[in-house]
Amino acid sequence: MPESLFLKTCNGLVSTQKPVWFMRQAGRYLPEYMEVRNQFKTFLDFVRDSEAAAKVTVQPVDRFGVDAAILFSDILVLLPTLGINVNFFLGIGPQIENAIQTEKAIAELKDPNLEKELFYTKEAIEKTQNLLKGKTPLLGFIGGPLTLASYAIEGKTSKDLHQVKKLFYQNPNAYHSLLMKISEAAGEYLSLQAKWGCDALVVMDSWAGHLSVEDYQKMAFPYSKRAIEIAKSKNVPILHYANGAGHLLQEFLKLPASGFGLDWRTSLENALADHPNVTFQGNLDPATLFAPKEIIQRRVREILELTKNRPHIMNLGHGILPGTPIEGVQAFIDAVRKYG
Ligand code: CP3
Repeated sequence: MPESLFLKTCNGLVSTQKPVWFMRQAGRYLPEYMEVRNQFKTFLDFVRDSEAAAKVTVQPVDRFGVDAAILFSDILVLLPTLGINVNFFLGIGPQIENAIQTEKAIAELKDPNLEKELFYTKEAIEKTQNLLKGKTPLLGFIGGPLTLASYAIEGKTSKDLHQVKKLFYQNPNAYHSLLMKISEAAGEYLSLQAKWGCDALVVMDSWAGHLSVEDYQKMAFPYSKRAIEIAKSKNVPILHYANGAGHLLQEFLKLPASGFGLDWRTSLENALADHPNVTFQGNLDPATLFAPKEIIQRRVREILELTKNRPHIMNLGHGILPGTPIEGVQAFIDAVRKYG
């Protein structure tokens, strides 16, 4: 797909137009998504139905003409392949039945057979590519190993990663063997998504920001690096996103990725100035999409001004929030098209 603005930018080319897509671009704020969502009892039933997943993946492309589609799935689909069972509850979020905290539990994890157990992802990628007809690149993704481990260990979304840090300090060998298992599986899954037809990949390390610089170096970086290195051989661009992680910028930029998403608390201006050869993505505060059109327009123009002459991917600093007005999303895209 040589003409894709998004892929060209991932490869470091500067063009007059900036590509734009959104994390969580398929979701509850879209009525056409809700129509498909309501046909399923649980979120996992929905994700595992490859036809439904393909359908909602292309919805934001059809409605807004975004420059990339992201496969409708979840980072947590990897955990059941290791024997860690996940359920999603509306309004509560993901819950793990058997949180993994002991050496014994780690030793008992399954060796995953990803081609078999994530066959529905292969099908969803193929069906999505048929709908996209080679016009828009498709992104596959994994969770960063630290983020995946946080669900495996804490059993839910954690505000502080206390249990993760406790395991690391009290039983470093157990921590290391869990993170190795997760990073191998995540790397293999990332690689498979490219093999199955994804045009680019994203590593989402949503909870890395809970770590200090020193802890990030020991608890997260080597495992993210391992996962990315496994998928590198597929020769598709790999983006990295960490949330709340401005203090870790110097560290995660050492990962072998093509581009780096920034959350909105991180100064894009400083990041651009300090790292002249890096491709960044982001980083408008997702809540800005609730603002009047004029404010959204002004913020977009500010980012476009800062990133002039740089390869840059327009996006938010995290996923689209539930209840976001469609007009806000449209105003963001219109401003990128008009000014960027
Ligand atoms: O459009 C897209 O971005 C693709 C689909 C996608 C989802 N989750 C769908 C989803 C992607 C890329 C993810 C990644 C994901 N999942 C991350 C990393 C990115 C981030 O947001 O920080 C994380 C940490 C998760 C874990 C997760 N999944 C949580 C915490 C929740 C519950 C919170 C919520 O928003 O409801 C989910 C569920 C989930 N994943 C939903 C969607 C659309 C909502 C469930 C539903 O519609 O019933």
